[in-house]
Amino acid sequence: MIINRNPAKNSEIVSQHEISTTAELDKMLAKSTEAFKSWKLVPAPKRAEYLLKAANIYRARKKELSETLHRENGKPIEEAEGEIQEVIDTFEFFAGEGRRIYGMTGQSEMPGKSIITVREPIGPAVFITAWNFPAAVPSWKAAPCLVSGNTFILKPSELAPLSGKILVDILNETGLPEGVAQVAMGAGDVGSYLIKSPASKIVSVTGSTETGREVATIAAANFKKCALELGGKNAAIVLADADLELVTEGLVWGAYGTAGQRCTSTSRLIIDSKVSKAVVDGLKSKISKLGTSRSYTPIISYKQLVKIDALVKEAIAEGAELICGGEILKHGDRGANPLIEAKSTDEKLAGSNDGYYYAPTILKIKPEMKIARTEVFGPVLSVIEIDAKNFQSKENSKTPHNEAEAILKEALRIANSTDYGLSSSIYTRDINLAMQSASAFESGLVYINAPTIGAECGGASLFGGWKNTGNGSREGGITALDTYTQYKTIAIDYSGRLQRAQID
Ligand code: UN1
Repeated sequence: MIINRNPAKNSEIVSQHEISTTAELDKMLAKSTEAFKSWKLVPAPKRAEYLLKAANIYRARKKELSETLHRENGKPIEEAEGEIQEVIDTFEFFAGEGRRIYGMTGQSEMPGKSIITVREPIGPAVFITAWNFPAAVPSWKAAPCLVSGNTFILKPSELAPLSGKILVDILNETGLPEGVAQVAMGAGDVGSYLIKSPASKIVSVTGSTETGREVATIAAANFKKCALELGGKNAAIVLADADLELVTEGLVWGAYGTAGQRCTSTSRLIIDSKVSKAVVDGLKSKISKLGTSRSYTPIISYKQLVKIDALVKEAIAEGAELICGGEILKHGDRGANPLIEAKSTDEKLAGSNDGYYYAPTILKIKPEMKIARTEVFGPVLSVIEIDAKNFQSKENSKTPHNEAEAILKEALRIANSTDYGLSSSIYTRDINLAMQSASAFESGLVYINAPTIGAECGGASLFGGWKNTGNGSREGGITALDTYTQYKTIAIDYSGRLQRAQID
């Protein structure tokens, strides 16, 4: 049984779910295969209508669904509402795609012959999703999957499974044929059972890089289409000419919004030492009250909470300077946290009115430390200062611009020196340096004078990362359809005679 507790108030059970048995999973896979046969024949604009209906249901129930999401995931109600809005936007955007899903027409080498390429669906998909966006991320997968003509089984995180289940329920409420949208409950073993099954043809995962590697290996052995959206170690670079008020506001949101539990969260600040003190002091004062405020997100589970703490302690042991935070919050306006004393490693433990909160933390680190490359997935910002003194040469100290260029070069080298490549940001008023950074960042997302989080859904806004963050697939925007469609080239010879390509 999955007991889904509120991470902000552990005595509160939000929902309970039976874990799907292998017999049930087999049944779901068979249903998914069966439903695909007729769903793929429904014209895409008709398939899109179900998405529009679902968007309308979400809109009508936005308040209540946000409340549920807020309770199971812990993120503040305002953020939960934003996430439900993201579901609406995603469904509406991909409903529109139902009138496109363009193919290609091309020129034939021969007279009396045409060549067209169409996109066709692939088959049953399996979605493995994380707890941090329990509604939006399933919608990123479900919408392009359905409009393309595939069926799916969603396996939401066992730490926040309700919003994903609701998403499937709402889709079914629109009158979707049986077996097109299904949900399976359980932990990693349930997901891997679905992925390993020969019945599933597409796998889309949002989770850790380790999970992604396992999934990719299974998928590769069976030539399954595989889309991976994995970890990040996102950097914000701040140059001396930046609007420092904008920088601190951006860092509060980028590093501490959702308590750093977004794969896009800012976890490194690489900053010109000339402005470092002003920014760090400003940030410290802005976050000093955050830990106990109602707009702060709890950590999803006890296991994650102690993991974050251990990474911070390890960094300090390695020589990192603790500027603030660095502790599990025991006392806030929520009172003591008996779970800390209980030393239990149980997920979402029962019996407490308290939640799992980690103090907003700033560390000053060196780029060679382990924490500079390890994903923390918590409210921990590591600051790396770049001192112009170390880059003074005749050439680059001629003008402030030359110096900023030299600092930026080093900042970009550090920013890119991780295995991840999801989101990066640059704060400067110098358009040349901003654009040079945009071109040099090794990441799928780049923000100029904005934080690393908060991707929009839409045509050109493609969500996904480089390097160990993924395998090139994109979500949220138009190229999400690439995961859910395969090409078919149809050559029509109306010359009435045999025409041999490359010969006649
Ligand atoms: C994630 O953390 O898995 O860009 C997704 C953002 C969000 C999505 C994050 N819209 O911050």
